[in-house]
Amino acid sequence: MKRYCINLLPVMALLLLGLSCTSPEEIVPELDDPIEEDDNVEVAIPLKELFKDYFPIGAAVTPQQANLGTPHGQALREHFSSITAENVMKPDALQRVKGQYTWGNADQLVKFAKDNGMLVRGHCLTWHAQSPDWMFYDENGELLSKEVALAQLEEHITAVVSRYKGDVYAWDVVNEAMFDWDPEGVIEYREDSPWYQMIGETYIDSAFVYAHRADPDAKLFYNDYNSIFSWKRHKIYNMVKRLKDNGIPIHGIGLQGHWNVNTSESDIRTTLDLFRTLDVEIQITELDVPVYLSGDEPGAVEYNSTFSFRQKAAYSMIFQVLLDYSDLITNVTFWGIGDDHTWLDRPDRKAFPFLFDEDLKPKPVYFEVQKLVQNQ
Ligand code: XIL
Repeated sequence: MKRYCINLLPVMALLLLGLSCTSPEEIVPELDDPIEEDDNVEVAIPLKELFKDYFPIGAAVTPQQANLGTPHGQALREHFSSITAENVMKPDALQRVKGQYTWGNADQLVKFAKDNGMLVRGHCLTWHAQSPDWMFYDENGELLSKEVALAQLEEHITAVVSRYKGDVYAWDVVNEAMFDWDPEGVIEYREDSPWYQMIGETYIDSAFVYAHRADPDAKLFYNDYNSIFSWKRHKIYNMVKRLKDNGIPIHGIGLQGHWNVNTSESDIRTTLDLFRTLDVEIQITELDVPVYLSGDEPGAVEYNSTFSFRQKAAYSMIFQVLLDYSDLITNVTFWGIGDDHTWLDRPDRKAFPFLFDEDLKPKPVYFEVQKLVQNQ
């Protein structure tokens, strides 16, 4: 039987490739210096207050974290004004078995957000990964017909969006539909996606129409990674332009923001300038900045002053850009809360990608960002 695997390896490979593109000259402290303590005597202003004049600030969370009885729940309430389900609203979490919805975890996140006055971003309705086989294959392992696939997609989107109507304010309607490594920029769509194979690119149009019918007030986003690279941003631009020209209800583009310590400032600015011309909102939906310069750099399991130095520079650059474009950017969400829990960690290679450490204490980079905002 033909099966489709969740395939995040290309994502990781590309992130690492991106990492090795540039290697800025640095004056850095010795690798094993303890991280400087002085910065930590400052008082941390909660992130959501720090950014209140600019955009809501969010985190991706697990149901376990969305609980005030945990340090994570407390940190969420103190610092964040928006949450996204890291996994539990994905198709395979909500409808692993056809016709049997499992709402418990997602309901709990939504309740936590409502109880604590937070927005909810819904992630995600249509994706080639983390989706159950029945969405793609029949009992013989053959791809479904276009008609059956679309009917099932409509049913799923209608059920999910209707359930959270009024509670989820923005949906990632389609995730990662564009081909992601193609320096010539000629292959537009991810052609190995079963969605594309069953339906062609118009599955994207249909998904947005279904979501809009179910909740006409929800903001509907196309979400992708590596979106700031010259060879990919044009594909996203062309696709969104096509949708808008066809009257498809799309309201925004999500830049996942799986960036790194040498992400290029001009790549981000150029992309925001280009997407602005589409007259859509931009949200940074999955921000994380791991500490390594390249995939070749040996992994570490302790944070150190070199990592701190790099992250201060990177996060200062990133947030200065986001503040400069805050008229366009309507949400900035980290893909996690603190360095204790991130999808980027490997057993001997921790990523330390956030502003909070493994104990959810603000890191020196936090205070660097705080200073930046206060100096605007
Ligand atoms: C990741 C989650 O963080 C992991 O826990 C899970 O095992 C795989 O998916 N782009 C996306 C997110 O849109 O849904 C992914 O989340 C990270 C990449």
